[in-house]
Parts: sequence; C-alpha cells; structure tokens
Amino acid sequence: MKTVKLVSEVRAEICSMKKKGQRIGFVPTMGYLHEGHLSLVKRSVEECDATVVSIFVNPTQFGPAEDYSRYPRDSARDGELLRSRDADLLFIPTVEEIYGEGFSTFVEVGGLSEKLEGSIRPGHFRGVCTIVCKLFNIVSPDKAYFGWKDAQQLIIIRKMSEELNIPVEIEGCPIFREADGLAASSRNVYIPREKRRYAVALYMGLSRIRDLLDNHGIRDAS
Ligand code: PAF
Repeated sequence: MKTVKLVSEVRAEICSMKKKGQRIGFVPTMGYLHEGHLSLVKRSVEECDATVVSIFVNPTQFGPAEDYSRYPRDSARDGELLRSRDADLLFIPTVEEIYGEGFSTFVEVGGLSEKLEGSIRPGHFRGVCTIVCKLFNIVSPDKAYFGWKDAQQLIIIRKMSEELNIPVEIEGCPIFREADGLAASSRNVYIPREKRRYAVALYMGLSRIRDLLDNHGIRDAS
C-alpha cells in the first residue's frame, strides 16, 4: 500500500490505475479506524480492482464548540490496519493541502441538511458535502462506500452526487456493532465505562420495539 499526502500524487496514482483499466473503490474516513471502517474497505476490495482510503479530520464539518482538536488520531496504527486489509492507496492530506488560503467555495444540499442532526449541528453537512465533493474530484472513484451508521450523511451524499452529476456509485454498508450491540464509532472512546450501558440501552430499546412490531403484532405505543 502506498501512502501519499498531495493531491497531485493521488492524481498520478489514479491515472496509472485507470490506464490499467482498474475500477476504483473509495472509502473516505476521518481515521482512528475501527471494524466498521474496515468492513467498508473489505467491500471495496471485494468489488473493485483498487481501493483508495482517505484519512482527513475535516475541520469544516465541526462546529466551534465541537471536538475537532481532540478528535482521536493514530495514523500509524491506521496505516498498519489498512495494509493488512489490502487497501492499495492511502491519502492523508494536511488541512493546508485541502483548504488553501482564502478557501471560500462550499457545497450544500438544501433542506435535508437542516433537519435531524443538521438542526443541532448547523453547517455540519455543508462541511461534509464540501469535503466529500472535493475528495470525489481528487480520487474520481467508480464506487464510494459509506456506512448506514450515519444514515442522514449517506442520503445527503447520494443526493449531492446525483444532483451534481458526479459519476460515482454510492454504496451503503451495514452498521458494524461491537459485542454489546453498540455501533462501532471512533468517538466511542469518549464514553466513560460506567456510561456505556446507556448508549447500548438505546439500541436494545429500539431492537425490542422492532421485535414487538414485527413478531408480536403490537401496535400500541404505550
Ligand atoms: O463519516 C465520516 O467519517 C466523515 O463525515 C467523512 C464522510 C469522511 C467526511 O469527512
């Protein structure tokens, strides 16, 4: 696996992959990889000829009071994991490489981006769409893989790609859960051990409701 930091280096690698007729799978991440990310890499390796992964903690999708500076990072470990899972190219740009001085162009999917998570994280999806659009332009993948864990993000990225005519297939992949049922997430390291059961309770409650609806015909919310 080759690791590159510059947009020009990614473009050169992609160019030689495309010359060989390879179909490119792309997994954009913010690093601190877990089995959820690695399940996306696995899908890409299975379905495409070459797999490109990016690691970039994207400042424009964090609000001023959010965790940008303390977001967990470990690119050495991430590199090892990706190598062991047969990724072909790792792109780890700096913030300066992505957002040059005076950067002022943003991509926004109206409506959907203001609802649900967007209503409590103003500007979050604008940052996500901007970086994903830029990465698509840099990598020009045939397929890109996103987890259903971030369902709203996945739907917004699909809409953005369709509406901007970006020639990429957006693949939604199942949520990877840890042994106790909690969805794998880089931010799980923030949850204190004694509070973890609250996070798991949410999933268990929702699963119980689904079971009551699907298998017991219960329709009474109370
Ligand atoms: O889901 C993420 O990790 C990020 O939002 C993404 C898609 C890599 C964009 O920074």
